[in-house]
Amino acid sequence: MEFSEVVRRRRMVRRYADEPVDPAIVDRMLEHATHAPSAGFSQGWAFLRLEAPDDLARFWRSTTPPDASETVGNEWLDGMRTAPVVIVPLSNRDAYLDRYAQPDKGWTDRDEARWPVPYWHTDTAMAALLILQTAVDEGLGACFFGVPPELFDAFRAEFGVPTAYTPVGAISIGHRIADTGAKGSPTRRPRRPVDEVVHRGHWH
Ligand SMILES: Cc1cc2nc3c(=O)[nH]c(=O)nc-3n(C[C@H](O)[C@H](O)[C@H](O)COP(=O)(O)O)c2cc1C
Repeated sequence: MEFSEVVRRRRMVRRYADEPVDPAIVDRMLEHATHAPSAGFSQGWAFLRLEAPDDLARFWRSTTPPDASETVGNEWLDGMRTAPVVIVPLSNRDAYLDRYAQPDKGWTDRDEARWPVPYWHTDTAMAALLILQTAVDEGLGACFFGVPPELFDAFRAEFGVPTAYTPVGAISIGHRIADTGAKGSPTRRPRRPVDEVVHRGHWH
């Protein structure tokens, strides 16, 4: 698929076909993810890959607020749970503090105040976009979604994730069907025009 088509066709998909995803495609998504840019080539990311039904069930159990099924209904959750694959991209702050303490960078104080933009999240998010784009390129659907922060510890405990790692979100992946699941915000608000978001030469 042409790159511009990959960019334009990408939409969050929140319901999937009852059909497994070829593990070789998941391999490709993750291999592409490792080609994301990273500050100082720190590559302080990790990816939890979940495909076994039991692992997926443990993911949803540990990351769903107890009241979610009653309060939301829950079209979103019912659809998302049909995904045969979930990848959780995790950022590792310590990898950046360690990397930038090395002689070619020299930030030996490992001071987090040096990072007003936490590049560990930035880089992991860029890797996540490559996963989303690879899904489109493979004709699949995917959705990036948040893990509730109050459940980070429950999620880490469930999967043995070290505390240094933060789930920047999670990505559901599967084959597309006509019903793409819960409607996203683009059905309620327009895409902002380029001229509105681009400031040429000066802010105006
Ligand atoms: C950081 C981030 C967090 C998001 N969290 C959620 C989420 O928790 N649940 C969800 O259904 N979609 C989530 N989305 C998807 C957005 O709603 C979606 O990208 C946006 O509405 C634009 O739609 P599109 O991606 O289909 O073009 C998230 C997207 C991003 C980038």
